Amino acid sequence: MRAKLKTYISDLELKNPILIPAGPAVYGEALDTFFDIQALGAITTKTITLEPKIGNKGHKLLDYPGGYLNSIGLKNVGLKKFISEKLEFLKTVDVPLIVSIAGNTELEFIELIKALDKEDRISAIEINLSCPNVNNKHILFDSDPTQVYDLLSKLRNLTNKKLFVKLSPNIYTIVAVSISCKKAGIDALVVINTLPGMRFDLKTKTPIFENKTGGLSGSAIKPLALKLVYDISNAVDIPIIGMGGISTTDDVIEMLIAGASVVGIGSAIMKDPIVITKILSELPNKLQELGIESIDSLVKEIRRTRLWNQNQSSL
Ligand SMILES: Cc1cc2nc3c(=O)[nH]c(=O)nc-3n(C[C@H](O)[C@H](O)[C@H](O)COP(=O)(O)O)c2cc1C
Repeated sequence: MRAKLKTYISDLELKNPILIPAGPAVYGEALDTFFDIQALGAITTKTITLEPKIGNKGHKLLDYPGGYLNSIGLKNVGLKKFISEKLEFLKTVDVPLIVSIAGNTELEFIELIKALDKEDRISAIEINLSCPNVNNKHILFDSDPTQVYDLLSKLRNLTNKKLFVKLSPNIYTIVAVSISCKKAGIDALVVINTLPGMRFDLKTKTPIFENKTGGLSGSAIKPLALKLVYDISNAVDIPIIGMGGISTTDDVIEMLIAGASVVGIGSAIMKDPIVITKILSELPNKLQELGIESIDSLVKEIRRTRLWNQNQSSL
């Protein structure tokens, strides 16, 4: 059964295609109290910044039919405490570890990568170019393909660890930015982060979130996530970690058909902590029912149909 479920992000082997994306697992330990995170294909940490962040004030998470709106604002313990405290627990778990990072400036990204590069436990660093909840100039980094290329090629030279880039669904240049990531030597793309959304209080007539907007996740965003994964998988040949509203075994297979090699499940685990256990037990039978030999064979089959592959074979 293990062989049927394994998948790859270049030469990084995952025992199954399910990972927890940045955020919902925070640093892993709390999630592990109600779900054995050792069962995952990989785990991603909450986005870490150079300095600790207290995050946004007021409401942080609103339940919404079809998902959540969150306005957490990158609340995290900061690089130093992450390495000295939070990484200790993660060293006790044998699952590929992806550490998500965000910086306000190029220098901050450089410092973060140099420090994390020294930590053997970390399999990959995920550069979050896409968080919609912070009031700074992230926009500079994530929507301009040339600036993205310039930043990433500098960061690429700092580490031999795998480098992933998390992309925003909120930029119309997402495919062009994906091509910049590939040119800069990025190992995988993480698609998609949350979409901006708002709710209003009827009595005060003001936004419910103090930060005004939040990020929409969950099944409401699934069709958009599938489309962007599909578009990007036709433009670049690097692996895609697809996410956005995935909550069932069928959803996982649909995301792989859209072009992902690995699938993230975030909001669904917040609604139902055993959803991943259910999916992992159903997947082998579902593959058999659909006549799919293995996850890896499905990923390869889909990749053969992608435009870049067809263009290459016609050269
Ligand atoms: C509570 C919460 C916190 C999140 N925090 C982060 C974060 O720190 N960094 C990040 O890149 N994405 C963050 N995300 C976005 C998720 O990683 C994921 O891209 C998004 O929620 C779509 O997947 P889903 O529909 O399965 O939740 C967060 C999402 C949620 C719901």
